[in-house]
Amino acid sequence: MKTVLEPFRIKAVEPFRITTVDERQHHLTAAHHNLFLLRAEDVMIDLLTDSGTGAMSAQQWAAIMTGDESYAGCKSFFELEAVVRELTGYRHVFPVHQGRAAERILFNVMVTPGQSVPNNAHFDTTRANIEYLGAAAVDFVAPQAKDLRTLAPWKGDLDVVALERWLAAQPKGSVPLGVLTITNNRVGGQPVSMQNLRAVADLYHRYGLPFFLDAARFAENAWWIHRLDPEWQQVPLPKVARAMFDLADGCMISAKKDGLVNIGGLLCVNDDAVAQKVRNLLILTEGFPTYGGLAGRDLAALAQGLREVLDPDYLHYREASAQYLASHLDQLGVPVVRPFGLHAVYVDARAMLPHIPPTRLPGQALACELYVQGGVRSVEIGTLMFGHDDPKTGLPVVADNDLVRLCLPRRVYTQSHIDWVIETFAEVHGRRHDLRGLEITQQAPFLRAFTAHMRPVAETAPVGDLVQRG
Ligand code: F0G
Repeated sequence: MKTVLEPFRIKAVEPFRITTVDERQHHLTAAHHNLFLLRAEDVMIDLLTDSGTGAMSAQQWAAIMTGDESYAGCKSFFELEAVVRELTGYRHVFPVHQGRAAERILFNVMVTPGQSVPNNAHFDTTRANIEYLGAAAVDFVAPQAKDLRTLAPWKGDLDVVALERWLAAQPKGSVPLGVLTITNNRVGGQPVSMQNLRAVADLYHRYGLPFFLDAARFAENAWWIHRLDPEWQQVPLPKVARAMFDLADGCMISAKKDGLVNIGGLLCVNDDAVAQKVRNLLILTEGFPTYGGLAGRDLAALAQGLREVLDPDYLHYREASAQYLASHLDQLGVPVVRPFGLHAVYVDARAMLPHIPPTRLPGQALACELYVQGGVRSVEIGTLMFGHDDPKTGLPVVADNDLVRLCLPRRVYTQSHIDWVIETFAEVHGRRHDLRGLEITQQAPFLRAFTAHMRPVAETAPVGDLVQRG
């Protein structure tokens, strides 16, 4: 079957304005070629992120109306706690306002300066929260993830051999906990196998380390295990998810992804002493533990979202839309990162635009062109985001890859919208040789991608060999 069957009908619609190429060119210039600086109302198809951008169901909106706004002990909290306990099995459930709040609180109570925290790959905010405490965030990306085009199924895995070698060499007491991110956002949203989850749990526990999941996309990881691993094909999805959670001692969840809500997060722990410290810091910085910085209605919507997200029809639709987009781009000759993920499709802009050197930001050039041609907003994950100028030499340091991420908000866009994205790509790919690179005219000392100003450059030839690789 070629048609993506969205397993929902549309009850409320959010119109967007249809703009022209000229209008969008004007908006892009006014935004200094930085798509973060656009007004969202000037975007038609917004694939910037899948975080907090999903559509809630009628049942979730109904839950919003019945949310209990009592300051302490609200009914909505106990409802959420019951759903999360059933899903994860963890003893202590703390709502927080979003994923990074869970990270900040957990690391504050467990990590001290000079320590190191391992992970398959830390998401930006996870890394930043660890580094902010004067500790190191260490990644153990699986070797199979390094090649963007091979079809290895579990590119999100953690390299356990490298981790074991590293753990054996660490001074006693210098590693306070171990983390594993499912799915692995930093390597293209690739899943982690159950085998790897078990091996990582075993290794952390052998070293006496508490093991925490960064489980923002736990449902998508469970779906891949269910789809690809014969051991789990007959097992219902809630049981697959529970088996992943059972291996760990707690989790951090940005509920803006698989919680199917626009705001919210969770921090879950088994250890009573850790929970006590979390509770104290939560009260200080987020709110009373039965609301954690959220409204009662947010808790109620999240409880309902967690009941819905493991529906196989929904996850099947999600896979079908991502595969539909990725395989059509592939057919056009667009270099797509493989295997195709669920939450996003990644395009290798450096391979698509070889005439634009990495210092001239091929990912950003492609993202800008997709916006001008089709009103499609994507995000560069490459040299604009991870590159910088070397403070000693002043030379540009480029990222390992220049990718463009097309993220799929949950339950928001239909197959026609995705067809529009494909047609936009066809247009842009057809005249890719005409695309020009960009130069940065203004940048902040860190996280420059969010605020940098850029302008197109005339030359497309490499700017020389004076480039360092980051
Ligand atoms: N962990 C992972 C794996 C994430 O992808 C994110 C957010 C977070 C933690 C932080 O959660 O935003 O609720 O504070 N990822 C978004 C993205 C922003 O676009 O991939 P948050």
